[in-house]
Amino acid sequence: MDSLGKLLQTGDWKGEKHVPVIHAPEEVKAGEDFEIAVSIGDAIKHPNTLEHHIAWIKVFYFEDGGKFPVELATFNFTAHGEAGAFTEPFGKTTVRLSKCGTIFAISYCNIHGLWENTAKIKVKE
Ligand SMILES: [Fe+2]
Repeated sequence: MDSLGKLLQTGDWKGEKHVPVIHAPEEVKAGEDFEIAVSIGDAIKHPNTLEHHIAWIKVFYFEDGGKFPVELATFNFTAHGEAGAFTEPFGKTTVRLSKCGTIFAISYCNIHGLWENTAKIKVKE
């Protein structure tokens, strides 16, 4: 294996519990705040135990015609039952964009690896 990108798995989040779900509007106004939320297990709950859990979700933006992705947010989920405490794999952030592009979400399960989802976003002037 010569590329981390080739290790990213994907699928339909309705049938595959590891795929991050991207909650974002399909269309926004340039320069205006909007929210992007990401979650795991909206349809099928993923385990949340010390032995098996979602450790993090990262969110990137790639503008149409761009050269490099921009990291928008990283959500770390660090409690998986210690002293009865749990952090569930959900995160939300406020974003402003000026150009159309693609939102990427990448999640990491400590047993089942890296998972990816994408969502196109239209930015109107
Ligand atoms: Fe898993």
